[in-house]
Amino acid sequence: MRELAERVFAVGVQHWDRRLFDELIPLPDGTSYNAYLVKGSEKTALLDTADPAKTHELIDHLVQAGADKIDYVVSHHAEQDHSGSIPDVLLMYPDAKVVTNPKCKEMLIHHLRLEDEQFVTVEDGEKLSLGDKTLQFIYTPWVHWPETMSTWLAEDRILFSCDFFGSHKTSNRLYVEDEWEVYEAAKRYFAEIMMPFRSAIRGNLKKLEPLDIRLIAPGHGPVYPNPSFIVNAYQDWVSDRVKNEVVLAYVSMHDSTRRMADYFVDALTARNIKAHLFNLTGEDIGKLAISLVDAATVVLGSPTVLTGPHPSAAYAAMLVNALRPKTRFVGLIGSFGWAGKMPEQLIGMLSNLKAETLEPVIARGFPDESVFSALDDLAEKIRVKHTEAGIV
Ligand code: FEO
Repeated sequence: MRELAERVFAVGVQHWDRRLFDELIPLPDGTSYNAYLVKGSEKTALLDTADPAKTHELIDHLVQAGADKIDYVVSHHAEQDHSGSIPDVLLMYPDAKVVTNPKCKEMLIHHLRLEDEQFVTVEDGEKLSLGDKTLQFIYTPWVHWPETMSTWLAEDRILFSCDFFGSHKTSNRLYVEDEWEVYEAAKRYFAEIMMPFRSAIRGNLKKLEPLDIRLIAPGHGPVYPNPSFIVNAYQDWVSDRVKNEVVLAYVSMHDSTRRMADYFVDALTARNIKAHLFNLTGEDIGKLAISLVDAATVVLGSPTVLTGPHPSAAYAAMLVNALRPKTRFVGLIGSFGWAGKMPEQLIGMLSNLKAETLEPVIARGFPDESVFSALDDLAEKIRVKHTEAGIV
């Protein structure tokens, strides 16, 4: 059994072949549901559990770790990939209490149909003694639900952060070995579920500053033996800084919008603006999300379908709107055959963004020279806007 410190065991499970989360988020590298067993001199606590699909493996790991009793099951987050095995764990350890904050307790009662008397609630900063080890609960809300919290194990200087700092990544290695490989997965994870809550996360990072952290043990992905690596990455992602980059996400039916997209990327390249191009047909939306973390400008591209946007473009607009990236400028390119309200409808779907909308470039049918000229103008407008805003 793997130990992070004396009597602190990693008992979570790997889900190597899971390929989708929430029936929405691609998992190219699978995921893990990390759980940790902390044996104090007097009491034993299990920090988080696992997705219900993997309960049997979690139980096997608890047996292997010699967990003949568990006094507390700490629940950092009510989402079922961490909490889903709690009912089975409580059947196995009927005297155990679920330790969590009042908000999470209410959610667990609804999600798992647990009973009120099965809980002990804790306040922000409260400590729970296990004897020679002490758990301190730190509310870290909005990573990515309102009830999320972390646990600080002061004696071993380990922060258990659940989704916060996590990555959807499977490995039978306990610790991060290739930081940049994990960086990509962690950024993807941040982009997919935490990006809308940047200001709350800034507050959480500030709250953690006084801690002299030796290890960050998240709820997904490997443990960080160099915590500043992921903390610094988060500081960057939640900052207001944007880069001289354009995300262009488009779909095309008869090549008009595709031709415009290709031309537009060349126009950006000529102006030394980095472009991230996504054909929305079959695209990995996680990659699109990653690119939204830093880009100063987002441009959507769509043909017109029955007077409105192509559903794939509408899907992308809904996604961008939900993720609320820090993009400063929004553009639109596309085409129509006979009529339609595609531009107004797509722009209207981006109401969450605090971004300036640039003049759309729309072709009737296949783009002609006037359309290509308008695309040059749009690229130049973006260059000027970025320069004036000091975006490099
Ligand atoms: Fe990993 Fe929000 O659950």
